[in-house]
Amino acid sequence: MHVLSSSVADTDIRIRTATSADGDTIVELASLVDLHVPSEAVSAALAPMRFALTATDDGPLSHRENHFLIAEDRESRPVGAIVCGPPNWIAKPGRAPGLVRRRLVHRLSTVHALAVRPDHRGRGIGRALLQQAEKTFHEAGYAALTLRHERELTRFYERLGYTSSSRLSLTLPTGELLTLVDRGWKHAFKVLSSSVSTTTVQGLPTLTGVLSD
Ligand SMILES: CC(C)(COP(=O)(O)OP(=O)(O)OC[C@H]1O[C@@H](n2cnc3c(N)ncnc32)[C@H](O)[C@@H]1OP(=O)(O)O)[C@@H](O)C(=O)NCCC(=O)NCCS
Repeated sequence: MHVLSSSVADTDIRIRTATSADGDTIVELASLVDLHVPSEAVSAALAPMRFALTATDDGPLSHRENHFLIAEDRESRPVGAIVCGPPNWIAKPGRAPGLVRRRLVHRLSTVHALAVRPDHRGRGIGRALLQQAEKTFHEAGYAALTLRHERELTRFYERLGYTSSSRLSLTLPTGELLTLVDRGWKHAFKVLSSSVSTTTVQGLPTLTGVLSD
């Protein structure tokens, strides 16, 4: 477990990487996010997070291709968390050719959950968790961070440097344009590498050069 320097104005808050003992904490905090699934399906939807936490690794991310951070108060009570990992669509057949898929996992990550306890919101904790994760992914050589969000959070993410749109759009090295839409969600991305650019393709902001180095 690593304690990371935190940019939360409130110095009582510290951010650390999660450990395999944090399964319940991560699931409880991630449950604060409306996943757009029936309540009886939430546990199954979050099960991959528990599983990913059992991996051990000394890599740049906390758990292989997944990265878990927890924000804690002075009494070490968890008050917020961020869960990042490979986008689910990468594994779906037909989305991207196998080789491209394997490379994409190391260049593109997604925020599966960002959550702060209601009584701790508005104190910069969500922003600090996101920015800390961005720093780690940037240093690990990732091209961009993506996420899905509620329409109401468009301004929140745009102010943090994200480009938000109705679809996720990216060009593959094959020249193919990959676009994804999830009903009821907006997609957003933030470029983390100077080798990646944002262009407009078919009217959509599009990530270009994700696999260029
Ligand atoms: C979204 C969420 C993570 C924000 O966490 P937070 O700790 O309250 O956010 P911060 O205090 O770091 O806010 C950073 C900035 O965004 C603004 N902001 C916070 N929530 C906002 C919202 N819902 N809409 C617009 N702006 C918002 C803050 O006012 C702050 O502005 P500032 O830079 O002027 O100070 C939190 O509200 C939450 O857990 N929501 C429920 C779960 C969820 O929906 N997660 C996102 C989907 S994955």
